[in-house]
Amino acid sequence: MSQQMFWNNKFSKVDYFYGTKPNEFLASKLDLIKDKKTLLCLGEGEGRNAIFFAQNGLEVSAIDASDVGLAKLDLKSKEENLDIKTIFMDLNHWEAKEKYDVIVASYLHMFENEREELFKKIENSLNKDGYFIGEFFSKKQLSYESGGPKDLDLLYSLEDFSKRFTNCKKNLSEEIVTLDEGIGHQGEACVIRVVIQKV
Ligand SMILES: C[S@@+](CC[C@H](N)C(=O)[O-])C[C@H]1O[C@@H](n2cnc3c(N)ncnc32)[C@H](O)[C@@H]1O
Repeated sequence: MSQQMFWNNKFSKVDYFYGTKPNEFLASKLDLIKDKKTLLCLGEGEGRNAIFFAQNGLEVSAIDASDVGLAKLDLKSKEENLDIKTIFMDLNHWEAKEKYDVIVASYLHMFENEREELFKKIENSLNKDGYFIGEFFSKKQLSYESGGPKDLDLLYSLEDFSKRFTNCKKNLSEEIVTLDEGIGHQGEACVIRVVIQKV
């Protein structure tokens, strides 16, 4: 099944599968990026992070493989009088021609063999001093029941990030957190959190 079909199916069943509040870790970095202007959300789904960052004055674009998710994001952004650019696309086909001050991703489940290319494109798409900020499920999440794929190939390790982004400063951690994100993520979880700055 394609990513589009899988996620369209999930996002068609409820209003907002991961709720409408932004991911707590991404939102906590607002102060860090207060002087930044442009922000790109990867695998943004129904748009909870995009809406939050646009409400806080950033010029936001969002890419996702689910047209159902992005339609909800477009609707909410209209209701809130925000101007968010949505791009319906599989990230494996992203050409990454534009540069951004900040790129964010929460729970983007890319397959292991897709990460080398994607992470290169992220690094190349950041302006100097720009940030990549993300939260991902760790491979250890397999022992938790709070959400996420039950497939090791879609889960992350710290090494995924430490061995890449070679021209960047990196702050990487693996943490046990308590998630309260819609019906999709509820309870104790093991996550990888990254703040990566291009130098
Ligand atoms: C777990 S959801 C998270 C959605 C959103 N980031 C959030 O936290 O609410 C994963 C999202 O990544 C998107 N996605 C997964 N693989 C993708 C790919 N190859 N290209 C573009 N989007 C992808 C899905 O469509 C889905 O919206």
